[in-house]
Amino acid sequence: MRTYLVTGGAGFIGSNYIHYMFNKYNNDIRIINVDVLTYAGNLENLKDIENRDNYTFIKADITDKDAIEKIFAENDIDRVVHFAAESHVDRSIKNPEVFVNTNVLGTAVMLNCAKAAWELEDGTFKPDKKFLHVSTDEVYGSLPDDPNAYFYETSPIDPHSPYSASKASSDMLVKAYMDTYKFPANITNCSNNYGPYQFPEKLIPLIINNALQGKKLPVYGDGKNVRDWLYVMDHAKAIDMVQEKGKLFERYNVGGHNEKQNIEIIEIILDTLCEMLPDEDPRKAHINKELITYVTDRKGHDRRYAIAPDKIKADLGWEPETMFKEGIKLTIKWFFENEEWMKNVTSGDYQKYYAEMYK
Ligand code: NAD
Ligand code: DAU
Repeated sequence: MRTYLVTGGAGFIGSNYIHYMFNKYNNDIRIINVDVLTYAGNLENLKDIENRDNYTFIKADITDKDAIEKIFAENDIDRVVHFAAESHVDRSIKNPEVFVNTNVLGTAVMLNCAKAAWELEDGTFKPDKKFLHVSTDEVYGSLPDDPNAYFYETSPIDPHSPYSASKASSDMLVKAYMDTYKFPANITNCSNNYGPYQFPEKLIPLIINNALQGKKLPVYGDGKNVRDWLYVMDHAKAIDMVQEKGKLFERYNVGGHNEKQNIEIIEIILDTLCEMLPDEDPRKAHINKELITYVTDRKGHDRRYAIAPDKIKADLGWEPETMFKEGIKLTIKWFFENEEWMKNVTSGDYQKYYAEMYK
């Protein structure tokens, strides 16, 4: 039975990926989830699978070399899927150092421990061992408002925020391990994800939560920045396909061909909420465009992201399956059905974060 070491599996994409993998492979795989449980890590995301015999949670920090070495020593790991990171751009602007520590040093520790566990005496690697580094389209910087401009795997690396600079640095470390040691790895660079379990510091869950409470909907700058939105389960599928069918040492861009301005996203959310809420629901009365509030722009705000997913489509046959209209309904439905989850994650420290961020 193949053993997966998933880092950051208690976060948004990691927990969706773990659900995807158990749905697909059931008892044919074993998953070890290593997560230190920062504010973004939440074991509630994995409640339904926590008692499986083929699932283990280990609370550990990826920058803790001894802890990670021990996990590799005690388990015959076949696949590493490395999600663990500090992921929010606004937080990186306020406090860059923690991003360098987790995203750069943490990735170095993961690479080094995997290499030590998998390397043979002659410098080659044990067969069928693979490391997948989950990265972002933000490493390519920003595109102009030209509908024909896209990020390709060959686009220059040009990060702007401390977050994207730390992710670009981690990508370069993975590349260095592949180039120097022929370390068996892949890198994926994905666009903006949305879906269940996303922490409400990110645009889509924040807007859903605020609109339901009749709170202002903060829009940075002119609201015309463009992001390329992908339903999280489509990303999970892409990661699995790259590990199973991808060519080792290659980078794959993953994106939804679903570019939208932030203001369009907010309007779609408001319309969909009104469509889905029954007429007698009192929240319906306060959900309207008057809640939209233009606020100070994010520093260094990247204007436009747009992924060209041509390579992953041509080489692996991956394509986004969930259209935005359907994905946003699934997401809103999930938030309707999981009000307790939202209450729990927005109590305590979130209030302080929100007050400081949007003061
Ligand atoms: P998230 O913030 O929701 O989750 C991150 C997880 O990593 C949390 O569970 C957290 O506890 C854990 N973590 C943080 N520091 C750790 C440490 N030092 N040791 C162990 N665990 C630690 O992030 P996400 O949105 O799920 O993103 C996951 C990955 O995907 C990140 O690498 C991110 O750069 C990348 N990515 C995200 C998106 C997106 O739209 N969210 C798009 C492309 C790529
Ligand atoms: O592109 C992939 C990246 O997408 C990932 O690598 C990051 O981990 C993930 O956080 C995300 O980064 P963004 O900065 O694009 O996502 P965020 O949800 O923070 O913002 C989306 C857009 O909405 C962006 O242009 C900023 C804007 N925004 C965001 C918030 C939180 C607002 O206008 N108002 C807000 O309150």
